Amino acid sequence: MASLRILPAVTVAVLFYGVVAVATNAPDFVIQGRVYCDTCRAGFQTNVTEYIKGAKVRLECKHFGTGAVERAIDGVTDESGFYTIKLKGGHEEDICEVILIESPRKDCAEVPAHSDRASVLLAKDAGISDDMRFPNPLGYFKDVPLPVCGAVLKEYLLDDQDE
Ligand SMILES: *[C@@H]1O[C@H](CO)[C@@H](O)[C@H](O)[C@H]1NC(C)=O
Repeated sequence: MASLRILPAVTVAVLFYGVVAVATNAPDFVIQGRVYCDTCRAGFQTNVTEYIKGAKVRLECKHFGTGAVERAIDGVTDESGFYTIKLKGGHEEDICEVILIESPRKDCAEVPAHSDRASVLLAKDAGISDDMRFPNPLGYFKDVPLPVCGAVLKEYLLDDQDE
């Protein structure tokens, strides 16, 4: 009889630990960004930008004092050029960046000078309650710009002057 009376308590305990286990398995941060082919070699996205599937990126967190790599997680982009990297734990003392590693497109694999990375803030005490992070999109230069790029860039230039 005693064992029967214990059963509800055991059930509650199992449920409780189950819930705790699920909760602690949730990532602390979900990083989502995009890799594109800068078909106009413009340095920004245009109406003729293409998104790269299968591009490899790496999240790297380096200690801002020592420069030691504290964490590196690889990601790869889907059909729409989006990658998603999930991680547990915060990086209060690190500088974290998403870095372009490899493009699957031979015609679009040139890394523009000084723009192979986007920073991402992963400090838990940063006062941002949301766990989603959206680093700036990263673009590879296409080897030869599309013929339409002259017209495209003219338009962007004019838009800029309007503002
Ligand atoms: C992009 O913009 C340019 C300049 O306005 C235009 O000529 C071209 O047709 C556009 N292309 C697409 C795919 O929308």
